[in-house]
Amino acid sequence: MLERRLTRRAVLRAFGAGLAASALLSACAREEATPTAAPAASPTAVPAATPTPAAAATPTAAASPTAATTSVAGGEPVRVGVIGTMSGVYSSLGENMVRGMQLYLDEIGSEAGGRPIELLVEDSAGSPDQALAKARQLVERDRVHLIAGVTLSNEAAAVRDYLVGQQVPWIIGNAGLPGLTRDPNLRSPYIFRVSFANGQYEAPFGPYAYEKLGYRRVVLTALDYSAGHDKANAFRNRFEQAGGEIAGEVYAPMDTQDYGPYLQRIQQMDADAVWAFYSGGDAVRFVLQYRDFGLKDQFPLTGAGDTVDENILAQQGDAALGVVTSLHYSPLYDSPENRAFVEAFRNKYNAQANQFAYQGYLAARVIAEALNATDGDVENKEGFLEALRAVHFIGPTGEFRFHPESQGPIITVLVRRVEQLPDGSYGNVVIDTIGNVDDLSYEL
Ligand code: PHB
Repeated sequence: MLERRLTRRAVLRAFGAGLAASALLSACAREEATPTAAPAASPTAVPAATPTPAAAATPTAAASPTAATTSVAGGEPVRVGVIGTMSGVYSSLGENMVRGMQLYLDEIGSEAGGRPIELLVEDSAGSPDQALAKARQLVERDRVHLIAGVTLSNEAAAVRDYLVGQQVPWIIGNAGLPGLTRDPNLRSPYIFRVSFANGQYEAPFGPYAYEKLGYRRVVLTALDYSAGHDKANAFRNRFEQAGGEIAGEVYAPMDTQDYGPYLQRIQQMDADAVWAFYSGGDAVRFVLQYRDFGLKDQFPLTGAGDTVDENILAQQGDAALGVVTSLHYSPLYDSPENRAFVEAFRNKYNAQANQFAYQGYLAARVIAEALNATDGDVENKEGFLEALRAVHFIGPTGEFRFHPESQGPIITVLVRRVEQLPDGSYGNVVIDTIGNVDDLSYEL
C-alpha cells in the first residue's frame, strides 16, 4: 500500500501494529483546508442526487487522494473519512472503532460493489473544534464519499450541521447524542447511527434494577457533559416510574484524575446501589478508585456497560468484579456470528472484542452492504441513502437493521455481570436480554 506522510506520532501510536494495509492515514503536514461556510441545515431536505460542492471542487495536486488499496477491484476507490478519538483519555474508543472497521474490510478484501474501499482516519482528540476541522478537511481536501465514526456527543454536535449541509452521508460509530436520530429538527436523511442513542440501553435498565435487582434508592454518577446527563436521565425516568427513588446525583468532569471528592459525596448518601456511566480512561480510574475508597463494600455498582467495557476491563481487574450493567454488546453474547467476530478480532489484534470494535465492524459492514446493493454507485446519493436505509443482515448480536424513522439501530439490550472467566481473564457474562429496543422508545 502507499501511505501518505504521517506527521502525528500520536496517531501512529494509537494504531500501533494494528494498522492494516488498506487504512490510509491522512497527512497533516499542510494547513487545514480553509473552512467554507456550511449551508444552513435543512432537516427535511430531500437528498440531492447532484454532486456536493465539496465533491465538485477541483482538488489541488497536494490534496489529491493517493490511490492506495490492497484490493484488486476495478473502480475508483470509495473514500470513507473516519473521525475518532485516537488520542487522549478516550483513545481506546477511537482506536477500537477503527480496528473493528478494518477487521470487516479485511473479511471482504477491502472491496464492495466492485470498488475498493479506503479508510482515511483522522483524530478528533476529544475536541469538538478538532472534530469539525477534520470533517472539513476530509470533505474538502480528501473529497471523501462518506464519513464514519465520531466518538463523543459534543464532537457530533459540532460536525452535524456541516456534514448535513455538505450532504455527506454520515454513519455514526459511537456518539450517542440523542437528537441526531430522535429530534425531527436535527435528524437528516444523511445521518445514520449503528451504535446507540444515549438512553437507549439505560432506559430499560431502570425497571430491571428495581424489579430484578431489587434496588429502591440509587445514586446516579456520570461524566459531566450531555452524554452523562442523557444516560442518567433515561435510567432515572424509568427507575422512578417503576417505583424507585434517586438518592442523589454526582457528576464529574471529563478527564478527572482524582475521583476522591466525588466518591466522598456518594459515600454520604442513603442508597442501596450506585448507577454509573464513565468511559475510556475515566472508567478505569473511576472503577479502581471506587474499590480503593471502600465503596464497593457499601454500594453495589451498576450502570452503563461502557463503564466496564472490555476495552478497559483488564485494567480494572477485580475492582470490576460483580458490576452489573446494560449495553448492546458483550463479547460473551452467545451466537455463531459473535463467536466468529470475537475470534477474528483476537487473532488480528491479540485483544478482546469490545463495544467500540463491534460498532466499527457494523459501520464498515453497513457501508459495504449499501455499496453491494448499488453496484458501488455511491455518487448517486439518493440511491445510496435508500440502500443504506434498507441494509439488513445478521450480525454478532443478531438482526441488524435501522429504525425507518430515526435511522438509528434497533438493539438487543444485554444485562451483563463482570465475572472472572476460567482462563483467569474478566468478562461481561450475559445474564438477561431485552429485545428490539429502538431509539424512539424512551423519554429524556
Ligand atoms: C457520547 O459522548 O455519546 C459517548 C461517549 C462515550 C461512550 C458512550 C457515549 O462510551
